[in-house]
Amino acid sequence: MPSSSIRWAGAQPQAMLSPPAPVAVFLVVTIKPGGEPEALDLLAGLAGLVRAVGFPSPDGGLCCVAGVGSAAWDRLFGGPRPAQLHPFQELEGSRHHAVATPGDLLFHIRATRTDLCFALAAEIMKRLRDAVTVQDEVQAFAYFDSRNVLGFVDGTENPVGQAAAEAAIVGDEDPAFTGGSYAIVQKYLHDVDAWEALAVEAQEKVIGRSKLTNIELDVPGSHIDVNTVTGPDGEELEILRGAMPFGRPGHGEFGTYFIAYARTPEIPEAMLRKMFLGGRESGPDPILDYSQAVTGTLFFIPSVTFLEAIPERSVTD
Ligand code: HEM
Repeated sequence: MPSSSIRWAGAQPQAMLSPPAPVAVFLVVTIKPGGEPEALDLLAGLAGLVRAVGFPSPDGGLCCVAGVGSAAWDRLFGGPRPAQLHPFQELEGSRHHAVATPGDLLFHIRATRTDLCFALAAEIMKRLRDAVTVQDEVQAFAYFDSRNVLGFVDGTENPVGQAAAEAAIVGDEDPAFTGGSYAIVQKYLHDVDAWEALAVEAQEKVIGRSKLTNIELDVPGSHIDVNTVTGPDGEELEILRGAMPFGRPGHGEFGTYFIAYARTPEIPEAMLRKMFLGGRESGPDPILDYSQAVTGTLFFIPSVTFLEAIPERSVTD
């Protein structure tokens, strides 16, 4: 479903539902004191900027999702807040640590081509250069057939179509913010030497899928088992993941940039608690023995309709 064409209770969502793309840039910045007007101008004009950079290359599929962190919300908008916007909840388990790291704005840029992502990131930064401090910038890429750098296919059980929209987009439960979403991002670094020292069968038990054929395996305690979270009626609770590999082999860096869009942050937060702290039946997640989270931030993703109304809404004028 092309996200640009859907409307959700009258509001147009940002491009959370765009299909996986071969290239992505994840940019997280904090806003300097006094940088609010530049940040608001950029957010208000973002859709136009994406059109300007992307229009000449229609096959490039350029899109960008922008998010606003909890601390930045009041500085930028004042007034009512998205009902569930709060800082990322740090988790300190006995063996694993989900760190919380700063972030006022998130830009999740996707395209079929590196140059388009690069050009849009450059235009965004041209407008924000003096107003923000860059906290993290990751250039990510699709790797073989949708695999992560651990060699496993990633994204199989993502919801699609209407199910994806229902998992990711805020509805009538928060009427002022319908068409929005929540995003949790975490940058993971993998210990690929330790991972590659495992036999393939042992790796498959960690993930819960076969490596070559991507078939689901019945392995209690595996990553997919730990991340199966159910609601009060036993229904599976879903998030929309857009994780992408990144790395710098020359620096020994091999990573997964994890991003999950959700209608409520409670669902990815429940998954993270099981992963990092362990739950009644499973966890902590064995994937964390080979993966360290080095960032963690929660953002609200306002609808396009909300961003377009910024000129009338701003508190910094
Ligand atoms: C170290 C970073 C991570 C890696 C390398 C990773 C990798 C994978 C892989 C290979 C799968 C199986 C195929 C699929 O359905 O996508 C998977 C499934 C899944 N992952 Fe992760 N993941 C990571 C972090 C996370 C985090 C932080 C969450 C939640 C907050 C999460 C939630 C899920 C869910 C919900 C599934 C689908 C489970 C099902 O089959 O129902 N993952 N992941």
